[in-house]
Amino acid sequence: MAANRDPILAVEDIHTAYGLSRVLFGVSLRVAPGECVCLLGRNGVGKTTTMRSIMGLTPPSSGRVVWKGRDIRRAAPFRAAALGIGFVPEDRRIFADLTVWENLDVAARRARPDGFTTERVFDLFPALRQLRDRAGGFLSGGEQQMLTIARTLMGNPKLLLLDEPSEGLAPLVVDHLQEQIARLRSDGLTILLAEQNVDFSLNLADRVYVLEKGHIRYEGSAREFRENASIRQQYLAL
Ligand SMILES: Nc1ncnc2c1ncn2[C@@H]1O[C@H](COP(=O)(O)OP(=O)(O)O)[C@@H](O)[C@H]1O
Ligand SMILES: [Mg+2]
Repeated sequence: MAANRDPILAVEDIHTAYGLSRVLFGVSLRVAPGECVCLLGRNGVGKTTTMRSIMGLTPPSSGRVVWKGRDIRRAAPFRAAALGIGFVPEDRRIFADLTVWENLDVAARRARPDGFTTERVFDLFPALRQLRDRAGGFLSGGEQQMLTIARTLMGNPKLLLLDEPSEGLAPLVVDHLQEQIARLRSDGLTILLAEQNVDFSLNLADRVYVLEKGHIRYEGSAREFRENASIRQQYLAL
């Protein structure tokens, strides 16, 4: 299966701390091209820190972050972005005073033949086309989440890191978001998703990792995970 293919991203035994506060203790995970991999775990276990470690926002003190065969553990965040890693942070930092279109336009990189344009992004998120002239600050939570993802796509990422996209959204909005992310997947984008929402994750993911207190406790296909009630109870308390 996909996990055995050459990974586009391999996180190998990383340890990450904020000052003296150690958070990740030897986290390893792999993402193959075209895969959707989910990092599941309860609040505070280190999901965001794992993503920040990959992006170089909080560089790991040891281990390796291997992108297409090269260790980028010490690379600056803008380098990771330029290499093709797009990070959608959980706090949806859009520009409240800019319109939807302007939010996308400021994020555009130099045009590439295979790259994203505002038109292509509007094709993927038709709701945003309707809202193109509305200020970011006047969007609903779900619309802001779509805009945050869309804006990251404007940087032409090969891998999308999605940090708890479903958080704080109403169930119907979560369903819609799930469809949108599924479309990105079928469009060929590789995705690493951090989530607490198990149903949302399992509907999208090929493979799952469960993180607990900075350790990976489980790794398996989404199907195996669905059937493993004891893991869910033990680490996710479901
Ligand atoms: N900037 C920070 N400074 C110090 N501790 C932090 C910081 N960010 C997160 N932490 C701590 O690191 C741990 C993991 O946090 P985080 O990676 O955000 O978990 P998750 O995303 O799974 O909720 C938590 O104990 C949290 O309090
Ligand atoms: Mg988090």
